[in-house]
Amino acid sequence: MIEVSTSILSMKKGEESKTFFGLEKAKTDYFHIDVMDGKFVEKNTYKKMLENSAYIKRISNLPLDVHLMVENIEEAINDFTSVEPNIITFHYEACKNNEEVMKYIKKIKENNCKVGLSIKPETPVEEIYEFLPYTHMCLIMTVEPGKGGQTFLTDMVEKIKELKKYIDEKNIEIDIEVDGGINLTTMESVKNAGANILVAGTAILLAKDYKIIIDEFKK
Ligand code: DX5
Ligand code: ZN
Repeated sequence: MIEVSTSILSMKKGEESKTFFGLEKAKTDYFHIDVMDGKFVEKNTYKKMLENSAYIKRISNLPLDVHLMVENIEEAINDFTSVEPNIITFHYEACKNNEEVMKYIKKIKENNCKVGLSIKPETPVEEIYEFLPYTHMCLIMTVEPGKGGQTFLTDMVEKIKELKKYIDEKNIEIDIEVDGGINLTTMESVKNAGANILVAGTAILLAKDYKIIIDEFKK
């Protein structure tokens, strides 16, 4: 089964309630919350995403899929657990060492959230194999994190395949999420490679009818 997590990063200001209700009606499976700190990536969306998450929490029962693109993971976990996300994903590259990765995995679980671990395009997937048994999701970035509307990096398809092969061989039950440049053209290759949660921002938000796109993604 394919699930869709809609990134609200490129949502127009002032259209919050219209967008959230529309996405719920179109049956997005998650709201994808892109948290940026102006350090790990250039943009800073921290406060805005905290506000948007709290607002979604008040008007919707749909789960929040929080993607932390921050250096200070500890602080972000503390801040974002207040909106009770279903899952919090952090970046492997933002951790100083393996102990730190395990520390954050534990901390997120202690806050009753599922855990995702993400890697940037240049990071080989083997580097995070040892953590996979402790996580619920692996997020493969298919663009350089930092902004919406970028072009999908086709080289990432091999990485997804490699990960899928590994988790099947080792019998590890985790979700594979892909994020960046996913649209009706690029979705086929990532689905075939083994991704089962598709993040999409602009492909859904810029469409006239969210449901048509979301239905296609889920097919
Ligand atoms: C990029 C973010 C993505 C992005 C997706 O740093 O993590 O979630 O906003 O947007 P699109 O689908 O437009 O590439
Ligand atoms: Zn994201």
